[in-house]
Amino acid sequence: MTAKAVDDVAPAVPELETIVSLAKRRGFVYPSSDIYGGINAVWDYGPLGVELKNNVKRAWWKAMVQERDDIVGLDAGILMHPQVWITSGHVGSFSDPLVECQTDHRRFRLDELPGAENLTATDIRDPTIVQRLGLTCPVDGGPLSAPRRFNLMFKTFMGPVEDDAAVIYLRPETAQGSYVNFKNVQQSSRKKLPFGIAQIGKSFRNEISPGNFVFRMREFEQMEMQYFVRPDDAARIFEEWLPRRWDWYTHYGVAPARLRFREHAPDELAHYAKKAIDVEYRFPFGWKELEGIHNRGDFDLSRHQAESGANLEYFDPATEEHFIPWIVETAGGPDRAAFTFLIDSYREEDVRGETRVSLALHPDLAPYKVAVLPLLKKRPEIVELCHRLLKDLKQDLMAVYDDTAAIGKLYRRQDEIGTPWCVTVDVDSLEDLAATIRDRDSMTQERVPIEGVKRAILDRMAAARA
Ligand code: GAP
Repeated sequence: MTAKAVDDVAPAVPELETIVSLAKRRGFVYPSSDIYGGINAVWDYGPLGVELKNNVKRAWWKAMVQERDDIVGLDAGILMHPQVWITSGHVGSFSDPLVECQTDHRRFRLDELPGAENLTATDIRDPTIVQRLGLTCPVDGGPLSAPRRFNLMFKTFMGPVEDDAAVIYLRPETAQGSYVNFKNVQQSSRKKLPFGIAQIGKSFRNEISPGNFVFRMREFEQMEMQYFVRPDDAARIFEEWLPRRWDWYTHYGVAPARLRFREHAPDELAHYAKKAIDVEYRFPFGWKELEGIHNRGDFDLSRHQAESGANLEYFDPATEEHFIPWIVETAGGPDRAAFTFLIDSYREEDVRGETRVSLALHPDLAPYKVAVLPLLKKRPEIVELCHRLLKDLKQDLMAVYDDTAAIGKLYRRQDEIGTPWCVTVDVDSLEDLAATIRDRDSMTQERVPIEGVKRAILDRMAAARA
């Protein structure tokens, strides 16, 4: 692990378009409502994308809930009491700085304008910043308005009457569901401090300048964990989560050289945070946040206690103290994580004069674990043997059959979607009842009895996990 900020690291893939076109062509991600021209910043996950994203979520849940005694899961509603978002500070301050071109009325996020990339949080709050830096509209060069705060929460109405009393919000983070359920979870699962609540679910933000494919969307998912601790343990526990979260990304294949930690400057900290460190990844469009780790102090539970009147104190039977726990949060998302795994696993290499494209995805993340391929699709006995094997594999694994091309092309297709192993059934298989397992990364082949194929694949998956 390194905390060093390295600026000269090349991205795994120079052009984002390489990943976007592979994702669309092979069925990972499509623009939402594509036949109507798409809708900005919403993307749909296709057959392979939904497998990849589900696998990312499963891997996170395994690390954060299944393998731990001190963290339990929750699935809170997307719609919450509107007071939650007033208390949390989101109604008052969950906003980005927006500037508008006076001639073409296009709107931009101030800190993403050319010439404004390195603004401090204090600069962003400066009403004279546009004049001070001489910023103009990047499209037509027109004058820009002074920045104003634009709240990112989507509003909607609950019930049949569209008046102010019925206004509610689509949640912009899953975290608040864990805070308002703190007592329910702690008491029903009889947890003692420190303990955590993990959630995966949809969040919504009306981003001013979404983009870079699934990096910043208006509808996305989060994987957030809120860890409730004694106040005097918070600083130490915060530091302990940093390497855990770093190691999770590297265990699933992200190159450590393309990760770094970045601490938020004091004037950049969110309203709730005492300390925040992002795990950043070197995307093709620069170093960007992959996940945030936050020491939120007692902000959340104190505020909810004060506004709701509910007692959110924890009673420590060992010390006989009553106090509001502090919260250490790990806040990531499966969209950004899956995107990162796609980019970082992308390989191009020359094999006998041809470019071989492969996704070196960790087997637990790969959409299909194994493909069953007949060497001769015209021989019904071979096809039948393939289908028997496929049926058996599908009891335990995502497996796929393909006979629509010659074997070399079938291998390339599976390489490009990250399938770690292909099993080829050939004429000899009819005699020796064995098949060939071909490895995606090394391209080496091993002959295995057909009845032992599933065991061999499961063993290789277990070895990749170690
Ligand atoms: N509860 C704290 C919180 O929400 P955040 O840094 O705003 O913190 C956490 O969001 C994570 O959610 C991000 O690191 C990212 O993985 C994901 N995320 C946030 N906004 C997103 C967006 N517009 N599109 C995709 N993922 C997003």
